Amino acid sequence: MMATSTLFLDTTPVEIGNLNSSSLPSLIADKYNKAKIIVLSDTNTYEHCWPLLQTNFDFLSTAEILVIDPGEENKSIEICTQLLESLLDYKIDRHDLLLTLGGGVVSDLGGFIASIYKRGLDFIHIPTSLLGMVDASIGGKTGINLQHYKNLIGTIRFPMATYIDPQFLYTLPEKELKNGMAEMFKHALIQDENLWEKLSAIKQLEELISESYIQRSVHIKIEIVKNDPTEKGLRKILNFGHTIGHALESYFFTHDPIDHGHAVALGMLCETHIATQQKKIEHATLQHVETVLLKWFDIPFIPQTEFPTIINLLYHDKKNYGNKIQCSLINRIGNCLFDQVIHEQECYMALDYLQKITRYNL
Ligand SMILES: NC(=O)c1ccc[n+]([C@@H]2O[C@H](COP(=O)([O-])OP(=O)(O)OC[C@H]3O[C@@H](n4cnc5c(N)ncnc54)[C@H](O)[C@@H]3O)[C@@H](O)[C@H]2O)c1
Repeated sequence: MMATSTLFLDTTPVEIGNLNSSSLPSLIADKYNKAKIIVLSDTNTYEHCWPLLQTNFDFLSTAEILVIDPGEENKSIEICTQLLESLLDYKIDRHDLLLTLGGGVVSDLGGFIASIYKRGLDFIHIPTSLLGMVDASIGGKTGINLQHYKNLIGTIRFPMATYIDPQFLYTLPEKELKNGMAEMFKHALIQDENLWEKLSAIKQLEELISESYIQRSVHIKIEIVKNDPTEKGLRKILNFGHTIGHALESYFFTHDPIDHGHAVALGMLCETHIATQQKKIEHATLQHVETVLLKWFDIPFIPQTEFPTIINLLYHDKKNYGNKIQCSLINRIGNCLFDQVIHEQECYMALDYLQKITRYNL
């Protein structure tokens, strides 16, 4: 059995490795011996991941399990209310424990209800999607959506521990692996050229299910969050690819929706193109990034007449200051600058570039 490795974000341990040899049982024995345990999952993680926990951990034999439908639309105030009422029905009090078992939807929702129920209930994350492992379960952000605004309501509250066991990923659908992959590429592009080279060489998606790649990616996120927990400065580099990515995700939402990871990959291409226009990086670097990302993500057609709609969406980005569009731009592979003003014309040219490489691909 492989030993787990532990990273720390403030006082929160993030353990990576086989769950059976993790500190989870001893943490429960030490701190939650008398506590009721309530597990939050979705129907997929209940089917694919819960059996592993149930078989291996006796302390879960009396746990209550809450199961929601999978999908972003369930990160809602209505589901939140139902879950809070379930906590009340099960007579959960502040000494009890919530365990989230799922992707980012389950950890965001679970972290959120735990942080508001009776002014705070301890929780532990066991992420089961790649994106959950390298991103959503790290950093203390919890949240739900309101109307069509993503993560509009939320808190910052850290779990008691996060346990990352890559074996859960064997049942994760390929498109979900790609969503996590996009964030791993982002971590590499903003902080670690060596990881970028390794990820660039991947030929099969399954190669991503590697403890060392996941560990490195988690480490990058932890170091950035440690430096700037409340996103006053450095943490903004985690938004690389997300400014144009979010605009594209919103645009396609009303046409032919694309996955978040897909949108981020397209956003990283556009923003790298802008970095080239601003002479922050060489054209050869853009071509290299392009070759790697196009191996995994295709480019949907966007008619030129729709560019203004997308540019308009950029003005609604949370990161803007005044009436200027701000984003994070890489200035080499492995380094990123934040609070960079980008101009409309540069965005038009970046979208045009995206469409040119589309035609090139046909
Ligand atoms: N809090 C943060 O800092 C942060 C950061 C990034 C993303 N997020 C949030 O994370 C969410 C996206 O997370 P996600 O991509 O994990 O989505 P998700 O939770 O919807 O999971 C994706 C799909 O995979 C399924 N799944 C998960 N693990 C599985 C497994 N082991 N086997 C089979 N199926 C499995 C889920 O049921 C779901 O259908 C978004 O809501 C986003 O806002 C939060």
